[in-house]
Amino acid sequence: MSISYADPAKGFINNVFRDKEPWQIVTITTTTVLAGVWLWNFIFQDESLVKRGRKEIFKLARYVPWIRERIDKELSNLNDLFEKEAIHRLKDITILSRLPKKGMSHDEVLDHVKKCVNLGDYDWTNGSVSGTVYRNDADLVKLMADVYGVASYTNPLHPDVFPGVCKMEAEVVRSSCHLFNGGPDTCGTMTSGGTESILLACKAYRDYAKEVKGITKPEILMPITAHSAFDKAAQYLNIKVCTVPINPHSCTVSIEAMKKAITRNTIMLVGSTPNFPYGTKDNIEAISELGVRYGIPVHVDACLGGFLICFMQDAGYTIPPFDFILPGVTSISADTHKYGYAPKGSSVILYREKKYRHYQFTVTTDWPGGIYGSPTVNGSRAGGIIAACWAAMMYFGHDGYVQATKKIIETTKYIEQELRKLDCIFIFGTPATSVIALGSNDFHIFRLSEALNARGWNLNALQFPSGIHICITYVHTEEGVADRFLNDVKDELMNIMKQPDEPVEGKMAMYGMSQSIPDRSVVTDFVRFYLDSMYYTPKNIETDDQSNIE
Ligand SMILES: *Cc1c(COP(=O)(O)O)cnc(C)c1O
Ligand SMILES: *[C@@H]1O[C@H](CO)[C@@H](O)[C@H](O)[C@H]1NC(C)=O
Ligand SMILES: *[C@@H]1O[C@H](CO)[C@@H](O)[C@H](O)[C@H]1NC(C)=O
Repeated sequence: MSISYADPAKGFINNVFRDKEPWQIVTITTTTVLAGVWLWNFIFQDESLVKRGRKEIFKLARYVPWIRERIDKELSNLNDLFEKEAIHRLKDITILSRLPKKGMSHDEVLDHVKKCVNLGDYDWTNGSVSGTVYRNDADLVKLMADVYGVASYTNPLHPDVFPGVCKMEAEVVRSSCHLFNGGPDTCGTMTSGGTESILLACKAYRDYAKEVKGITKPEILMPITAHSAFDKAAQYLNIKVCTVPINPHSCTVSIEAMKKAITRNTIMLVGSTPNFPYGTKDNIEAISELGVRYGIPVHVDACLGGFLICFMQDAGYTIPPFDFILPGVTSISADTHKYGYAPKGSSVILYREKKYRHYQFTVTTDWPGGIYGSPTVNGSRAGGIIAACWAAMMYFGHDGYVQATKKIIETTKYIEQELRKLDCIFIFGTPATSVIALGSNDFHIFRLSEALNARGWNLNALQFPSGIHICITYVHTEEGVADRFLNDVKDELMNIMKQPDEPVEGKMAMYGMSQSIPDRSVVTDFVRFYLDSMYYTPKNIETDDQSNIE
């Protein structure tokens, strides 16, 4: 049978190559094989063919001179705009572009730092800002300053020199394990923030999957609402991200879709308690079951809500299980620098078992500088931050956190309930902890954001679909803040509904517009320029040792 099948093919090929010389045959064969391989890769790559086709077209379009000119011009305008904003933000202060020749005095330094901290158009001390500042209390700030002062030059990289700093880190980790119902084998490390906690979990699972299961093309399977820190980790660690859609009504991940998206390359499943955009909590019980059934580690991102949700039961709220109580949950990230009320720069990553944490560590054995083992991303680490985080946890104690949680959840529920009474806006899903996300079917929700902005409120903007959210912190539980917010919302809604079809204006207009740009690489360029502007200093600065720019 194979002969009768092969014969015509043989004849055909011989015919094609009849008049060719051997070098031609070799060249043609090689080229054909290479082209075949390229085509194969192109068709069976990760992204869908249509999506990549579109990307290719936009990429090519940017080579067309007049298109490139237009894009470059827009980008350059945008860059100027960002720089102007940077200048505006810094208008009341001296900008230094080099070291002062003679060192500043204690008072000069402190004076300058105070001025820097007070720059900006928002009053972050009285609840005008969503999230960001989780607690603002003079006694706490004083304690943090004292503790940081004492420990500021310590470094847990040297446990023999600073054993006490290591003890404090170990205690922060152990207490956190206890809060999330970890057993005796539960372990973890402190990190510099949620992003690092997430990055390290991804690294641990990537290396675990490679060594134990031989997975060389790792994939993270996560809800579309999972924090962008996972994308960042994937970019750094060369892992593919597969996103799972959410249920439209509840705004929590679709378990059915997650189950279908599992492949043999899946190294971890992710759920959030809650997620950043909508503040809704994924069904961790179901994700844990998937993890157990398919033998895949499950990471619970409790960065935002961790230090609220673990106290909610004691604060009198019933919540479904989400932590190490569930057998499939293998790691949890929780930010002490959010509702743990520690100063910025601390978070914990916890694992069910040491075997996962081992893959988080990096060890180099052959360096002339010595055998080097390091638990997290940083080599040297800030002992002062560890001490401050420890101090915050000990200062509040279990009861302090429960009381704070109670106040925050009460305030959130009050605001949620009042907002639900208003026509023409809706709330995305059911807020699980302290984030309330708003949308509208009657007008562009960014108009509300602009209007509230003009009244001093700084909220977060959401996209796909457009929305805004407010993250309630302890600062918002102060007398009068919630009602001031609700009244401002009501007033502005009345204004807006007089002309519901007006377009968005101001800064939010650009944000709204950017969602409709199909070529996301242009949006990426926007953001790069924005990031540049954070590091802006004027170019033509005089060369005196302390040049002043007003
Ligand atoms: C804040 C946050 C993170 C990341 O934390 P950083 O501390 O900003 O690095 C991760 N996940 C969620 C849900 C968050 O809100
Ligand atoms: C908070 O600060 C803003 C800006 O300074 C001010 O407009 C607002 O009235 C303050 N609110 C409260 C409750 O103090
Ligand atoms: C780790 O390094 C980063 C970047 O240098 C720094 O911002 C952070 O504070 C460091 N974290 C710790 C815990 O030292």
